[in-house]
Amino acid sequence: MVQSPAPALAPATVFDWLDEAAELRAEAGLTRTLRSRPADDPVVDLASNDYLGLVHHPAVTRAAADAALRWGGGSTGSRLVTGTTELHTELERELAEFTGFEAALVFSSGYAANLAALTALTDPDTLIVSDAYNHASLIDGCRLSRSDVHRAPHADPDAVADVLRTRTHRRALVVSDTVFSVDGNAAPLTGLSAAARAHGAALLVDDAHGLGVLGPGGAGAPAAAGLAGEPDVVATVTLSKSLGSQGGAVLGPRRVIRHLTETARTFIFDTGLAPAAVGAALGALRLLRAEPHRADRAREVARTLAARLTAAGLHASTPDAAVVSVRTPGPEAAVRWAADCRTAGLAVGCFRPPSVPDGISRLRLTARGDLTDQQITHAVDIITATAPTP
Ligand SMILES: Cc1ncc(COP(=O)(O)O)c(C=O)c1O
Repeated sequence: MVQSPAPALAPATVFDWLDEAAELRAEAGLTRTLRSRPADDPVVDLASNDYLGLVHHPAVTRAAADAALRWGGGSTGSRLVTGTTELHTELERELAEFTGFEAALVFSSGYAANLAALTALTDPDTLIVSDAYNHASLIDGCRLSRSDVHRAPHADPDAVADVLRTRTHRRALVVSDTVFSVDGNAAPLTGLSAAARAHGAALLVDDAHGLGVLGPGGAGAPAAAGLAGEPDVVATVTLSKSLGSQGGAVLGPRRVIRHLTETARTFIFDTGLAPAAVGAALGALRLLRAEPHRADRAREVARTLAARLTAAGLHASTPDAAVVSVRTPGPEAAVRWAADCRTAGLAVGCFRPPSVPDGISRLRLTARGDLTDQQITHAVDIITATAPTP
């Protein structure tokens, strides 16, 4: 077929298609807008990922400020050039110790850590078996890996084993979130590990929503499942949720961390995490080690929230960690419901396609461990009073 040449466009019309795409999103109820949050926002916050309520804790903010004063506003370069301070090394040592892994490597975000693990631990002769509900950063890592990717049914170790059994690839990597960001349900880690082991595959788990909440004292889902420190298991975490900071890390056997240090593009070609963020994460980690009950409290708040919302007739998920979601009739209803909650003094998350793998829009609530019983009651009252009528 002879292709006709692309039409010449006037410069002012080159981006017209973006407006058309925005209109389509608006028609589908999928418009997204930014809102600037004031420092003294009076609302009760169930929208952030500050699971342990540490983001404003004096031990965390002071550690961030001290780190900035001592090490400067930025890390000054890539980790392999000038961007590794003694503070980065301390954080890596303490993170590995706390989570039970042999070694850790800190990245500028959890997103970058996931891209690194997926691209550096695979090759064109690797089959990646990835849970259908995995986080976008894992999906993007799969895409960047240049490996064959099989999207496995959600939370189904038998299906994973079936795919691994019939593979022709030399290597395989099973990939899953430990706690899924939308409904807050936990992955069947023991089953996934057994399936991977039975077929010579490695296991990579993203513990973004497990660190600080699951496992002994919040050591994370791999520790809870007895998988931390195993020779075939690698975990990624973010420092931006329970630890109230910014950044991410890969945890695993020492040889995996060495390989990532020398080959992962999002490590090599990225400026090291800013000292203030490293300091804040270290401050939070030390606080969590000194006060391990914080993890239990976050889980208790989640269970209470879910139970009360269910008792009020709403379709709330059963939380395995600190995330509770409530189904809504559709994306427009979700947006309206979240806005009504905000007007009444409560911030909640609003998840719509493409952030929900099953297409069902939800309110997403994070059960912060520092919420008082009075605040929980207030939040439940607002959510039920503003619920859409069926
Ligand atoms: C499951 C999961 N993985 C990875 C990330 C990315 O972490 P970060 O925000 O540190 O880039 C997130 C955060 O939103 C997440 O929910």
